[in-house]
Amino acid sequence: MKLPRSLVLILLFAALPATLCAAWITDIVVMSSKGAGAVNFSHYTHLEAVGNNCPSCHNGIFHIRPEKNPVATMKDMAEGKSCGACHNGQKAFSVKEGCSSCHPTRDIVFKNADAGDITFSHEAHTGMFGCSECHPDLFLPGPGNQRRTMQEMEQGDSCGACHDGNAAFSVKEDCENCHQM
Ligand code: HEC
Ligand code: HEC
Ligand code: HEC
Ligand code: HEC
Ligand code: HEC
Ligand code: HEC
Repeated sequence: MKLPRSLVLILLFAALPATLCAAWITDIVVMSSKGAGAVNFSHYTHLEAVGNNCPSCHNGIFHIRPEKNPVATMKDMAEGKSCGACHNGQKAFSVKEGCSSCHPTRDIVFKNADAGDITFSHEAHTGMFGCSECHPDLFLPGPGNQRRTMQEMEQGDSCGACHDGNAAFSVKEDCENCHQM
């Protein structure tokens, strides 16, 4: 009888001491989503947290072949799928909070030689808005964004979607609120 390759691997994991496996598996696996960019999952941290036990995740929660894992939304996770199987506030911190533990964000600098560089602070904005207010419709959470002119912003693109003098200070004034002059 010929066993599927993935089953052979799992049987192998079960038979070998997991610490042996841990030395050759990739520590960081990257899962990316359109709405929130890349999430780095650490095997080593988790092997410590769940007691060197591969079958606690494979293949019940995650298949070891990434293409076999359906993309999960945060809603799926809140219902116990994917990371949410453990990150439910009981086995581990909940997916409903601590967003930045899994989705670290940083300050973004837009270089501008003429008008001065602009620093966008995630920290200042994520206190007021969820990721989906901006991603992926206004800005892709990663490379590939089209550069915008101030004129386009005045018409409601990019920062101008909120910085219209109504929801937030306007792109038509207070240039130095954004540009380091
Ligand atoms: C706490 C959960 C968890 C545990 C425990 C775990 N893994 Fe994973 N593993 C994952 C996740 C999440 C992925 C990424 C899945 C994806 O990309 O869809 C992954 C991916 C993999 C991959 C594919 C990596 C790649 O680069 O494509 C292999 C191989 C793997 N794990 C082996 C192991 C082995 C061997 C063990 C035990 C020593 C183990 N895993 C323990 C969660 C876990
Ligand atoms: C335990 C880790 C973890 C926590 C905590 C977490 N996320 Fe996620 N999130 C992920 C992973 C992993 C993905 C990608 C899943 C995939 O590709 O299958 C994701 C995907 C997303 C997405 C894109 C999919 C969707 O639901 O639209 C958004 C937006 C998002 N997260 C926002 C958040 C916010 C906001 C919080 C806090 C309330 C949060 N996440 C907390 C791990 C986490
Ligand atoms: C089998 C259970 C299990 C699954 C599935 C799981 N985790 Fe965890 N995770 C834990 C435990 C246990 C801890 C440690 C306790 C805590 O921090 O609450 C932890 C801790 C973490 C931490 C904090 C540790 C650190 O080094 O920063 C992050 C980040 C994290 N998990 C991300 C994820 C992501 C992303 C996924 C899904 C791709 C995931 N986890 C799936 C059990 C799990
Ligand atoms: C008020 C709008 C706004 C909100 C809310 C927001 N972001 Fe962003 N994000 C941006 C902008 C602007 C960029 C930079 C786009 C560019 O490079 O052109 C960015 C870039 C990113 C990037 C790519 C960073 C890099 O290193 O290149 C990631 C990942 C990201 N955001 C994740 C998140 C997550 C996760 C949340 C929610 C916790 C979030 N963002 C909330 C506006 C926002
Ligand atoms: C809400 C923040 C914000 C305010 C306020 C703002 N800008 Fe900008 N500006 C930006 C960002 C971000 C970019 C870069 C956009 C990109 O690369 O996609 C930019 C780009 C520019 C550019 C280069 C693109 C172009 O339109 O030629 C000039 C010049 C400029 N700003 C001048 C100004 C002046 C003058 C003011 C005041 C009347 C101003 N900006 C107010 C955020 C702002
Ligand atoms: C989803 C709406 C939204 C978007 C998109 C947005 N902002 Fe804001 N921003 C706000 C609000 C609301 C405030 C706080 C109210 C105010 O200061 O008028 C704020 C405050 C700020 C501040 C002052 C707080 C701080 O960081 O010190 C700066 C600077 C800023 N935004 C820059 C930007 C830039 C640059 C962009 C585009 C890359 C941008 N914002 C996109 C809503 C937004």
